[in-house]
Amino acid sequence: MIISGSASTSLAASLSSHSKIPLGKTTHQFFPDGEFIIQTNFQGDHGIIVAATRSASDHLELLQLQDAVREAGATNITTILPYMGYARQDTVFESGQPLSARAMARSIGTGTDKVIIVNPHKNIVCDYFGVPAIALDASSILAQTLPFDLENPLFLAPDSGAISLAESIRDSYGGGDIDYFEKKRISSTEVHISPNTVDVTGRDVICVDDIISTGTTTSKSASILRDRGAKKIFVTCIHAILVAGARKMLFDSGIDAIYTTDTIATPETKVSVAPLLAKIL
Ligand code: R5P
Repeated sequence: MIISGSASTSLAASLSSHSKIPLGKTTHQFFPDGEFIIQTNFQGDHGIIVAATRSASDHLELLQLQDAVREAGATNITTILPYMGYARQDTVFESGQPLSARAMARSIGTGTDKVIIVNPHKNIVCDYFGVPAIALDASSILAQTLPFDLENPLFLAPDSGAISLAESIRDSYGGGDIDYFEKKRISSTEVHISPNTVDVTGRDVICVDDIISTGTTTSKSASILRDRGAKKIFVTCIHAILVAGARKMLFDSGIDAIYTTDTIATPETKVSVAPLLAKIL
């Protein structure tokens, strides 16, 4: 049976439909002190929990879901993290700080037999759970979101870390060039983009990234592309966090559209990772 966290209800329903595995129900009871307890109707041996941990509350809910499913008799639990919060903190940045991705992964790993994460920022996070964990690359499906008649398309990564993502989308799209800018992060809301000399005049450009959070990285890149005469600028990413103000910043920078998956459900979600997940269950 599939059990869903609050942030992944549509994806869990879609996964149930693609995999023909029944979807259970979950309710929440809230207490005056702010705590909550979940209640599921889980039955069976194999529990598949689908829960993006976008917030601390999502994370706590996931730990409860795992425990409830185990209590209800599951002998095998697979935890699917469509988006794993804190995964970008995948190293100790400064002395005295935690390796947060490992701390979160360890807590999730204690309640499950296996983990599937969709496009973690870096695959190293899979080593932190203490149980088998695999990263599912959903980049190829982003090509389905793009207009079929792109003009001389250029798939642009805002930094070298996103080049393989851009290549995967370009290959699935069926053609186009790849290029990338250099990015230096100054703070969580400031980046410096060093553009190369690529000529985008009259071309459609697809800005590709794994995550868009504040929108700073992509909007800085888009402004450069707009100034250089790009025809249309489409933005595509796996995980659209899109914090408050991100959409305005992106559209103010001159982008034409944002296309993303349902790892985090947003109005920009155009394609589901459910068929890919169903294949590997
Ligand atoms: C970082 O390396 C990631 O790949 C993204 O570029 C980053 O998370 C984007 O963040 P923001 O939208 O806040 O610039």
